[in-house]
Amino acid sequence: MSRKLVLLRHGQSQWNLDNRFTGWVDVDLTDKGRTEAFAAGELMREEGLQFDVAYTSVLLRAIRTLNIALDAMEQQWIPVLKSWRLNERHYGALQGLNKAETTAKHGEEQVTIWRRSYDIPPPPMDESDPGHPRKERRYAEVDYNALPDTESLKTTLDRVMPYWVDRIAPDLKAGKTVLVTAHGNSLRALYKYLNKVPDEEIVKLNIPTGIPLLFELNDDLGVISYRYLGDPEQARLAAEAVANQARKS
Ligand code: 3PG
Repeated sequence: MSRKLVLLRHGQSQWNLDNRFTGWVDVDLTDKGRTEAFAAGELMREEGLQFDVAYTSVLLRAIRTLNIALDAMEQQWIPVLKSWRLNERHYGALQGLNKAETTAKHGEEQVTIWRRSYDIPPPPMDESDPGHPRKERRYAEVDYNALPDTESLKTTLDRVMPYWVDRIAPDLKAGKTVLVTAHGNSLRALYKYLNKVPDEEIVKLNIPTGIPLLFELNDDLGVISYRYLGDPEQARLAAEAVANQARKS
């Protein structure tokens, strides 16, 4: 029997629309983002997916996307677990900056490295920054040293993996159908792990907002197949648009 896992990036957020680096800043969905979230729920309902459990981050854009998708599927009753470990990659000192302006200032190559490389993090957020995670009640229970001031995809995967190993993988091995609603880079990290993507190849991967990515896994959680639900061309174009966000305006 194959196990079903869906990875769903939140719908368009206000800072996706404004083309700003977001990371751990807790912005909400735009109206388009809410519409995307509902459409994602409809696609999963049409696929006949009956989830046993859902996981999400502690950031509003992912939580709201999950709630709206569950409404569309009329599966609001399933258990939902939230963890900081599924948060978006922390974008450090880039958080809040416009992506195209950052490219104009630092060049396309440098910004692509910061956005898509495996082990090179953006410049760190200053510890005195009022938005530092160590100052947020939301993370009060998290080990002080575990809270980042910037993250590469590698360090993002390093903090996602304990949650995968301890919570998500056991549910899948037990035969549960699992929905993970999270963020562009925390999902790139999971995708890299599941598909065994080489470090130098992950730079090419962009995950679009609001389109469910369905994985079929074997008993050992090896990938049998994966595909975006809905129109494959729409998913390809949406992923391409994500890649182009940092092009000079
Ligand atoms: C952000 O954190 O800015 C977005 O969620 C992802 O941005 P990116 O596609 O530039 O990594």
